[in-house]
Amino acid sequence: MSLPPAATPRKRVGILISGGGSNMAALIAAARDPAFPAEIALVVSNRVTAGGLAKAEAAGVATSVIDHRGFSDRESFDRAVDAALNDAHVDVLCMAGFMRIVSNWFAETWRDRALNIHPALLPAYTGLNTHARAIADGVRVTGATVHFVRPELDVGPIIIQAAVPVLATDTPGTLAARVLVEEHRIYPQALAWVASGRAHVVRRADGTEHVVIDAPPSPAPTLISPALQR
Ligand code: GRF
Repeated sequence: MSLPPAATPRKRVGILISGGGSNMAALIAAARDPAFPAEIALVVSNRVTAGGLAKAEAAGVATSVIDHRGFSDRESFDRAVDAALNDAHVDVLCMAGFMRIVSNWFAETWRDRALNIHPALLPAYTGLNTHARAIADGVRVTGATVHFVRPELDVGPIIIQAAVPVLATDTPGTLAARVLVEEHRIYPQALAWVASGRAHVVRRADGTEHVVIDAPPSPAPTLISPALQR
């Protein structure tokens, strides 16, 4: 009797948070689908007060609090986070509202295995208060970006982006809410592409990097409409 092919083991994902964890919740929800190529193995917060911890625990996801204030320098904190991720056999790391700048050591250790979401269309509006700055500048379009992490803040090969219109009536709060809806859609898509091995970082001759997404295997579990899939 021929046995069915063993299912490819799902990639184990660690999520780093500092706050409410709405993107973490979107990733946890996406991973509930057995066809999703990743499972959420661990949520790590640098703040014991992070509201996302309760959401993760309610979803049955293991959590860990590693308070950055207990470490003398950035790299020693990062090494403690790295140890917790390795203990949980994490393959891919998603930073989701994680308000820490990682050390060069951490970025290189997790090179092309660490993703981050930023509430702007990078390379525009790196840093904080992206929505207030976009409104102040009168831009007509902003959005969100998921990228691979590199040592420099909010820089790295872009995996996926979503564009969101800026309305004349927008406040930073109304704009943030509209962008978050798109964040919760594109982050699971980005993780699915990375976890399924379809996202590749290509370095050009001039040293710049970009991400190529392989064509979907058919039948492909699509998370976004095929028209949007490359
Ligand atoms: C989001 O806009 C995210 O892009 C940024 O922090 C905000 C809150 O994220 N990094 P979350 O709700 O904690 O996931």
